[in-house]
Amino acid sequence: MVPIRSLGTNHRERIAAHLLSLDPNDRYLRFGYIAHDEQIQRYVYGLDFERDEIFGIYNRRLHLIAMAHLAYADVASCESCAEFGVSVLSSSRGRGYGARLFERAAMHAANDGIRHMLVHALSENAVMLTIARKAGAQVVRKGSDSEAYLELPASTIDSRLAEMVEEAVAQTDYRMKVQVKRFWRFLAGVKAIRRG
Ligand SMILES: CC(C)(COP(=O)(O)OP(=O)(O)OC[C@H]1O[C@@H](n2cnc3c(N)ncnc32)[C@H](O)[C@@H]1OP(=O)(O)O)[C@@H](O)C(=O)NCCC(=O)NCCS
Repeated sequence: MVPIRSLGTNHRERIAAHLLSLDPNDRYLRFGYIAHDEQIQRYVYGLDFERDEIFGIYNRRLHLIAMAHLAYADVASCESCAEFGVSVLSSSRGRGYGARLFERAAMHAANDGIRHMLVHALSENAVMLTIARKAGAQVVRKGSDSEAYLELPASTIDSRLAEMVEEAVAQTDYRMKVQVKRFWRFLAGVKAIRRG
């Protein structure tokens, strides 16, 4: 199980760094246009961590290798919907992170009483549409754009407990990575002093 944690406003810089490292084609697939650096910065600084939910996967070096945005903002075409967007660094793809983030976001949305999760993707984005289909979403193609709708189950005590446990495990994993990183930095400092 890969630990997926929810991200707060103190992760904004790392979210920006993650999105800015996407190449033009990935930016096109993620945002539906080739977002320039300024547009990405504007998107990141506009993220509402109170209203929406942002999830992330950190590697051992505390690089944000994957993130997802579950947006509760007005989804004009659908009542009680949340919109899902995701990106995984190219070096970390094909390991199931995109699919896991999709499941994690769906779990959270269902526990929040949301009835449908929506993904807006380009029709050429076969990987994203495969993830959505495999999770049970219905995909409607509208020319070059496609929309995937996932009907969410009602929340239960089990699903709420499962989410709490998953979040606690991910937060603990993150804290351990922070400690390990600090330890290695300390060790590097000691070595440098010895050499000096
Ligand atoms: C879409 C994206 C998030 C997928 O991330 P990922 O971690 O590589 O995805 P996963 O490993 O979870 O799953 C990929 C699935 O697609 C399948 N897949 C891979 N290439 C495929 C292709 N060309 N056609 C169809 N399915 C494909 C894989 O077999 C896998 O399914 P499996 O787990 O059953 O084998 C990633 O490619 C990305 O960041 N793309 C750029 C941004 C983007 O497109 N965002 C989505 C729009 S919101």
